[in-house]
Amino acid sequence: MLVRTDAFPFERIPAPLLSWYKEHKRDLAWRVDPTPYRVWVSEIMLQQTRVEAVKGYYDRFMKELPTVYDLANVKEEKLLKLWEGLGYYSRARNLQKTAKTVVERFGGVFPEDEKELLKLSGIGAYTAGAIASIAFHKRAPAVDGNVFRVFSRLTCNPTVISEPKYRPYVAETLREVYPPEGQACAEFTQALMELGAIVCKPQSPACDKCPLAELCESKKANAQTAYPVLPEKKAKREEQVFVFVIETKDGVCVRKRTAGVLKGMYEFPSHVAKVGDTPETVLKEWGVTGFSFRTERKFTHVFTHIRWEMLCFLVQAESAPFERYSREELANEISLPTAFRQCLEIIL
Ligand code: ADE
Repeated sequence: MLVRTDAFPFERIPAPLLSWYKEHKRDLAWRVDPTPYRVWVSEIMLQQTRVEAVKGYYDRFMKELPTVYDLANVKEEKLLKLWEGLGYYSRARNLQKTAKTVVERFGGVFPEDEKELLKLSGIGAYTAGAIASIAFHKRAPAVDGNVFRVFSRLTCNPTVISEPKYRPYVAETLREVYPPEGQACAEFTQALMELGAIVCKPQSPACDKCPLAELCESKKANAQTAYPVLPEKKAKREEQVFVFVIETKDGVCVRKRTAGVLKGMYEFPSHVAKVGDTPETVLKEWGVTGFSFRTERKFTHVFTHIRWEMLCFLVQAESAPFERYSREELANEISLPTAFRQCLEIIL
């Protein structure tokens, strides 16, 4: 259920927040020359991924693919290689799909309007708001986890952040107090996020450094960390996964995943084990011949909804019905998601 906290003096947020931002904002690559393309790529990378983790990827991406035309035309393998290790690979595919749309339908120029931006693949309310405000200087909020936290704490709003009506409420409430169209809109969007990221932190808010401390209802109640109210965590499904690094005389076997998590990505042939499965039964079932194997390592890999306990086997085989690559190709050309890349270590 949505609880409105309309009595809060929202109009008192922008002035102190904008002054604070000018002085304390971090130097981040995507804040230099914030074109729609650069803002868009950064915001997609920053979804579900920490700023520190994104920095290197962002620089490499912009060096290799400096324009929306470059992204529209790049080979998928190269794109996935640039994304390798960032996770949530559908983000990369959606980026390219949208780049193609922007090139083919809009002559390479991003639409300025939030509603038009929303029609593009992989661009939701958050990303549309970020591009519209940061690149086009519109009065458009971008409500991410940081902004939810700042808003919920300022107002002691008890709405659970997964409540579908909460995000639009926060966005529309903030939109009312945006500065007039212009550069200040770009700064206001980023200042809200920045405050959440470096001051109003999840576990240890630095209220002594906060430009909005005087307004903050949760500070008054000494209940900062009670907000935002988070949904109950669901337990992750656990799977025991056999992973086979199969060496044959003409290379190491990989294949593309056709279903489930990491669909469309390369893997070392893997199998979610059921009761009674053994490495032998799985290899025989696949038609691998003349094999011997040993158990090499155990890894754990955690996805959003699944936890994999991975048992990695090194296999020598006469034949196997999979694509094969050399170790060098696997190391340098083929993009392997992190879950499988760690298994590559056993043969490098
Ligand atoms: N997190 C999400 N978007 C961000 C941005 N533009 N700058 C810093 N942190 C962010």
